[in-house]
Amino acid sequence: MAFPVTRMRRLRYHPTLRRMVRQTRLSVDRFIYPLFVRPGSEIRIPIPSMPGQFQLSVDAVVEECREVAGLGIPAVLLFGIPSHKDAVGSEAYRDDGIVQRATRAIREACPDLLVVTDVCLCEYTDHGHCGAVFERGGFRDVDNDATLPLLVKEAVSHAKAGAHIIAPSDMMDGRVGAIRAGLDQAGFSHLPIMAYAAKYASSYYGPFRDAAESPPRFGDRKTYQMDIANGDEALREVAADVEEGADIVMVKPAMNYLDIIWRVKQEFGMVTAAYHVSGEYSAIKAAAANGWISEQGAAIETTLAIARAGADLIITYFAKDLARWLRAGV
Ligand code: PBG
Ligand code: ZN
Repeated sequence: MAFPVTRMRRLRYHPTLRRMVRQTRLSVDRFIYPLFVRPGSEIRIPIPSMPGQFQLSVDAVVEECREVAGLGIPAVLLFGIPSHKDAVGSEAYRDDGIVQRATRAIREACPDLLVVTDVCLCEYTDHGHCGAVFERGGFRDVDNDATLPLLVKEAVSHAKAGAHIIAPSDMMDGRVGAIRAGLDQAGFSHLPIMAYAAKYASSYYGPFRDAAESPPRFGDRKTYQMDIANGDEALREVAADVEEGADIVMVKPAMNYLDIIWRVKQEFGMVTAAYHVSGEYSAIKAAAANGWISEQGAAIETTLAIARAGADLIITYFAKDLARWLRAGV
């Protein structure tokens, strides 16, 4: 018998054949594009640690959303930078808050674009933590149960402003259930919750914290975000959120947690989102700027890996680039 009978290379020899047998395909339909909104008008401030990303005023974010929608990207994820921060993040749940205003404006300008809003307090608190802080006997931490009603208020005010999907990212216990009940009570039982279900205490959020001006002023987020070493715990986190009514579950970050994405998708069969976070984006940008890797190649390979691991939805700062590349048939 001639050796070898099986030649794996036979299905690779022609580019058209490779196209035919390609198993995982990227589609713009999967992408969610994050945006940072700040007060003012005609403002477009580049974020130094995230080349290609900007802090945008409401009018500028509307312009941006027109472009995003024009590229066929179905959804944006809004983060707000308020004019004033305080201990309990009051601007997060004001009806004229920055995200609420941006949401209304985008809804009006781009009727087919979905507005997903990040529900968390770290952008709005002066201490930079994701909830209200308590101090007892020299011990300071985020107060889980005191934070829940604040998150509920924030979620309901986003819903009133027209948010299509509510995305809590704080990692408090019980917040999905609390937000579900709050939304239902306020007449928004039809609105889905995309829960940041397995969110790790990652070093890769650094550029985001510059962008959102939200680094914690003391300590870190390790008492609420997950330990980077834990896998089984992610399944318990997801199970809890599903039990509490999450419609979409998210794993975050994405690249270093492909095993978690895989396990979550296999175990729950839920619509699963993955967040390719700021540091993952900026690492590719920086290496590409130095000529060390191909930006397009690395961005596509990374996004494909996230999809192959089982992510149905991918939140990525590369969404616009990917949409253009896909359109060009790359
Ligand atoms: C806020 C929040 C963070 C990110 C999304 N929502 C930062 C954090 O938890 O410190 C990170 C996103 C990114 O790095 O792109 N809770
Ligand atoms: Zn937060």
